[in-house]
Amino acid sequence: MAAPGMEKIVSLCKRRGFIFANSEIYGGIGSTWDYGPLGVELKNNVMRAWWRSVVYDRDDMEGLDAAILMNRLVWRYSGHEATFSDPLVDCRECKTRSRADHLKEGKCPNCGSSNLTEPRSFNLMFKTTVGPVESDENIAYLRPETAQGIFVNFANVQQTARRKLPFGVAQIGKAFRNEITPGNFTFRTREFEQMEIEYFCKPPQYLQPGEKNDEELHEEWIEQRFNWYVQLGLDPARLQKRAQTREELAHYAKATVDIEYLFPGSLGFSELEGIANRQDYDLSAHSRDIPEEDLIRLKLNKNTDSTTKLEYFDDQYADPATGKKGARYIPYVIEPSAGATRATLAFLCEAYNEELVSEPKAEELVPLREAVAAARKNIDKKINEAEKAAQKGEAKAEGPTADQLRAIDTALEKAEAGLPQSLLEVEDACNLPGADRVELLKKVRQVTTKLCDEYTRVVLKLHPQLAPIKVAVFPLKKNEPRIVELAKGIKKNLQPVLRAVYDDTAGIGKLYRRQDEIGTPFCITVDFQSLEDQTVTVRDRDSMRQERVAIAQLEAYLTGRLR
Ligand code: GAP
Repeated sequence: MAAPGMEKIVSLCKRRGFIFANSEIYGGIGSTWDYGPLGVELKNNVMRAWWRSVVYDRDDMEGLDAAILMNRLVWRYSGHEATFSDPLVDCRECKTRSRADHLKEGKCPNCGSSNLTEPRSFNLMFKTTVGPVESDENIAYLRPETAQGIFVNFANVQQTARRKLPFGVAQIGKAFRNEITPGNFTFRTREFEQMEIEYFCKPPQYLQPGEKNDEELHEEWIEQRFNWYVQLGLDPARLQKRAQTREELAHYAKATVDIEYLFPGSLGFSELEGIANRQDYDLSAHSRDIPEEDLIRLKLNKNTDSTTKLEYFDDQYADPATGKKGARYIPYVIEPSAGATRATLAFLCEAYNEELVSEPKAEELVPLREAVAAARKNIDKKINEAEKAAQKGEAKAEGPTADQLRAIDTALEKAEAGLPQSLLEVEDACNLPGADRVELLKKVRQVTTKLCDEYTRVVLKLHPQLAPIKVAVFPLKKNEPRIVELAKGIKKNLQPVLRAVYDDTAGIGKLYRRQDEIGTPFCITVDFQSLEDQTVTVRDRDSMRQERVAIAQLEAYLTGRLR
């Protein structure tokens, strides 16, 4: 199971301190989010897992952390100043602005009017000025991608790390885009984090026998990046690789494959990462002395400002005609470009589960069945009223409509028939559109919430590498000093190796639920037996199975299982 709707994730993130709306006490600022105590751990773990996979686990990669502010010329020669824009239309009726390429049948997505202006280009880069004087000469941009920081450092990295092709450079960092249609929680925001790789390789004409060409390396990266998401828990059934169509492709890109994840709700399959074969476009764009025929081929303007040519000296190359050794050329590049904040959202959506932990007895369900019966009778009456009002043209604007009521009724009927397993479906039915206006559903909600509190749990089945907290330690009795001391000591000993917390603010059952909800893979309970035989119970988040483990073995046991 994954999250049934984005609203569940938004609510969990706020309730448990993963993600908060930015500057909320002043009414917020659109689509800008702050990562709370658990969110920062989760996002950092996503970025760490990426870095480990693409830098440490390979022998052909280096890391980089370039500055956000760069010389404006970077964005002029990269093409962003001229072309990094969205076509926009203004609606003359409701005064909203939309992306021209997102219109359905030429209509305003807000009010449905066709009275729209012609599309105009809107640059997505945030502008600022550097230094005390605000003038055109001092303009700088908050970078809209981290990639350019890698391109302009190509020679620095290659020479200082003494790298031969093929090799890559990885970078994680903030990027900013003045998006016109941000939304869907953290899916599209104006400030976000990227995890980008530029993998430099030989152009086909310089390959030695047995070396992989750019197309093969592109394929390898697509596989590697797809598998990374799967290894960290995304269900392959909710992932797809989608090759960009000819119309979507940038003119310099040989091919781009997007990895898409099936997000809940209206987003559906949407991009997590794009893996592009950009050939020699980027390094040529930032180089002086590029031959005219290459400028024409790549549709580039001559670079009159760069102080260098970002080329590579290949001492292995031997000219097939003359046998002359060595060649200088601009490398090709494969670019796997992912969003760290977007991947974090995907991992949250995938990990979200609601489960029935144990079954309520038949007699405990009687009040619920009665409340459902009363609510359905009330809904039936409301359907008749809504239909009559609609026939007379007196339908109330605030609803609920007859269709909404029928959908609630059908969902309730199905959920009631499937009790007790379908307890959570009763809750879902009470959250359908229009349900907040059915008075008698209040009682259903009340009874269901009480049963859900007792018999169900929300559990984030995050991969252990990603879980914000790896282990929580509880004392069975918080007024027994020997147990408390032992529990606090266990937490302290584990902390240098893995993120551990101590908690004694509720009964054990409630403490387990709280940790399940934030994805903590293991809970340790210290009890009276622990005082006698120096063992504790370790409870597994997913199976809820408990086993006794010697305190002396805890670190080895947990690190073994957390891999
Ligand atoms: N250097 C290439 C590049 O930036 P992109 O497709 O524009 O390519 C790469 O961005 C990734 O960055 C996307 O696949 C997505 O995961 C993330 N991303 C882009 N715009 C974003 C936004 N407004 N909010 C969150 N993530 C975004």
